[in-house]
Amino acid sequence: MWFKELVLRVVGGTWEFLVICALCVYYCMETVLLTITPSFLRWQKSLKGKRIVITGGAGGVGQELALQLGRLQAKVVVWDTNERAVEALRLRFYNEGMELQSYIVDVTDRHSVYKHANLVKSDLGPVDILINNAGIVTGRTFLDIPDDMVEKTFQVNVISHYWTIKAFLSDMLKRGKGHVVSVGSLTGMLGTYKCTDYSATKYALHGLHESLLTELKTHGYDNIHLTLVSPFFINTGMFAGCKPRTLSMLEPKNVATRIITAIRREETFLTMPASYRFIIPIKFYVPSKLCWAVMYRVIQGPQSMMGLVGRQDTTAA
Ligand SMILES: NC(=O)c1ccc[n+]([C@@H]2O[C@H](COP(=O)([O-])OP(=O)(O)OC[C@H]3O[C@@H](n4cnc5c(N)ncnc54)[C@H](O)[C@@H]3O)[C@@H](O)[C@H]2O)c1
Repeated sequence: MWFKELVLRVVGGTWEFLVICALCVYYCMETVLLTITPSFLRWQKSLKGKRIVITGGAGGVGQELALQLGRLQAKVVVWDTNERAVEALRLRFYNEGMELQSYIVDVTDRHSVYKHANLVKSDLGPVDILINNAGIVTGRTFLDIPDDMVEKTFQVNVISHYWTIKAFLSDMLKRGKGHVVSVGSLTGMLGTYKCTDYSATKYALHGLHESLLTELKTHGYDNIHLTLVSPFFINTGMFAGCKPRTLSMLEPKNVATRIITAIRREETFLTMPASYRFIIPIKFYVPSKLCWAVMYRVIQGPQSMMGLVGRQDTTAA
């Protein structure tokens, strides 16, 4: 009896091992092939007619996303707290002959989120894509961050995602399709100076993203896609005063274009620049003293962040 059990275990284990080896070869080859295939030859889903909610959609990256998605004939809904920026965006949509649905919503207020989610659903129908883009940064060293700003940063950058995802995910599960995009940051993969609160919220997004992905996959919701975006600094004013030494800041227009491509290709993780996806994890394999030396002497991360003052202009996006 024990011999039969042993044989079954060995056969089962060997089979699992072979399956994993085959999957490893298949997925690695798929990734290499997709990476070297020219962009115009790669499959991308159409966003025409898709109902898309963008939080913080009147800000730097948000408004670029809204405009580019509008031009792809998506039905764009913007939620933002900045009334003047929303009005300016409405005008830009109008000038291009496009329609924008916009609501003044503070994403940290879950009652407002649920109320406006119901409004969007009754006006437009079920939402196909949710883009959690709203974010704030304090930009101070640890002891200088006011307590209320620690709380607010967590509320806006991560806790609000629970309300917005809850507001739309049930419908996605019922329909068996949907897409949730979270705009994180490279500081969610590598902590840096003046970012003890901000970076922690972006790390938290990684946990939320990976865990939710696991739940969806486990329950067979393979057509509900998640995309976590982790960009380097973007020239929107959010990181005003910061002077990166190794790369120049990304432009919001290009970031939005790349995020839209990631949505259309149903990519799960997107870092910008792409190479950082491979470079940052090296920190786990080298001595931490070496990590610090590279950070301080080569990347000069802390030096870049010394002048950070954060967003100064809160009326225009
Ligand atoms: N700017 C960068 O260098 C950078 C780098 C990496 C990641 N990011 C992330 O990209 C996203 C967009 O950043 P951005 O540079 O466009 O910022 P931004 O400041 O230009 O725009 C953010 C928008 O979010 C809105 N917002 C803030 N709090 C809100 C709330 N409680 N409810 C609803 N809307 C709210 C603001 O009004 C603004 O319109 C953020 O999540 C940010 O953390 C930015």
